[in-house]
Amino acid sequence: MSNILKIDRRHIWHPFTQHASERDPLVITRAKGASLFDEDGREILDLISSWWTCIHGHAHPALIDTIGKQAETLEHVMFAGFTHPPAANLSKALTDVLPGDLNRVFFSDNGSTSVEVALKLAYQYQRNKGDPGRTEFIAFEGGYHGDTLGAMSVGRGSDFFKLFQELMCTVHPIPYAHTWEGDNAIAEREDDALNAFASRLDSDGEKAAAIILEPLMQGASGFRFARPEFVRRVSEMAREAGLLVIYDEVATGFGRTGTLFACDQVGFVPDIICLSKGLTAGVLPMAVTVARDDVFEAFLGETFDLALAHGHTFTANPLACAVALKSLELFHEEKALDRVAHIETRNRDQLARLQDHARAEQPRAMGCMLAFELAESEGHYKTQDGERLRDWYLTNGLNIRPLGPSVYLMPPYCITDDELTRAYDGLFEGLDAL
Ligand SMILES: Cc1ncc(COP(=O)(O)O)c(C=O)c1O
Repeated sequence: MSNILKIDRRHIWHPFTQHASERDPLVITRAKGASLFDEDGREILDLISSWWTCIHGHAHPALIDTIGKQAETLEHVMFAGFTHPPAANLSKALTDVLPGDLNRVFFSDNGSTSVEVALKLAYQYQRNKGDPGRTEFIAFEGGYHGDTLGAMSVGRGSDFFKLFQELMCTVHPIPYAHTWEGDNAIAEREDDALNAFASRLDSDGEKAAAIILEPLMQGASGFRFARPEFVRRVSEMAREAGLLVIYDEVATGFGRTGTLFACDQVGFVPDIICLSKGLTAGVLPMAVTVARDDVFEAFLGETFDLALAHGHTFTANPLACAVALKSLELFHEEKALDRVAHIETRNRDQLARLQDHARAEQPRAMGCMLAFELAESEGHYKTQDGERLRDWYLTNGLNIRPLGPSVYLMPPYCITDDELTRAYDGLFEGLDAL
């Protein structure tokens, strides 16, 4: 066993890990493009972009160069009472590419905190507007929004947080209509879900401050895709009922669904949008919660108690802001969305093959994502089949990490055609070996 592994075993507590039974982690010492390299130099294709972050690939020279230059100029400064060029320029660039009047950027550190901020914004917005009875939230069954208390509350339908129910705020779940290639009953399921939502609005709509949802794709609960019309209709109904609409695009943002943001396809401008992961292209931790002008204006007034009393020590870290700005520029310089479109074409070519495979069900493709369910495999998050597959893939040089029975690929956009071919071949070999 390597020295690093010995130290890790003795001192590190890993996320989402049962240390009593799980195998040792792999020691990764280097990464480049779509590949990770372990301490023996063995290459592993990172087909899930290291928890969906590194959109342009690992160790992109332009991003690394940006960090170096920014570190020489200004590495950090507190953000209350101070500002700096990377934060200002990033805010301008982000609001330029976001739809409508999503113009006010609040910085935090990760997806969960961006959601936490959104929930607090919505709650206080309603109070500041004179509607203090709106203290609850509505969220989709199966939605996942992170691991802090508020984020867990609205993500309770993802089944990850049963243990913590007593700590949570009041959230009303509504059914989610997800779909796949060759699904003929989706219109019916959408109608049922919309009717259930209408009833929920009748019973609890007046107590709700906001609805929060992952537009087009529920990530952590198994890459469950929804149609844009369904998401739009839910959003419109919520707004008509006086709720703020929060889109959690922590996973879907920055090209994953084929457009820069999923809301571009939905054709709806949310009141608040949460972004992280791809925001900094997986290089540094940062998140933003962006609000429409109208939401921001509700916090203006003579007294501090109308203001948002929230902030984090590393709010708007200049290094992370500079990297995020450069990452946005790479979308133009490297035609990143064209690359996503190309990956989608390649992914779509696999759908028929998946449909024919005895162990694959409900194949689906959107943007850079390809997903399916393992047939005859039940359970949640860590299932026996899923774990066996993950191990097989890792042993064979592929980082594919099923979420329970849901298997998916979400590669960096720099992945080459040869690498994709390797990924598909391995994907099917692993299935055959199961
Ligand atoms: C949609 C969504 N929201 C929020 C989060 C939480 O982000 P983080 O893990 O950075 O706190 C995630 C993480 O996977 C996510 O997929």
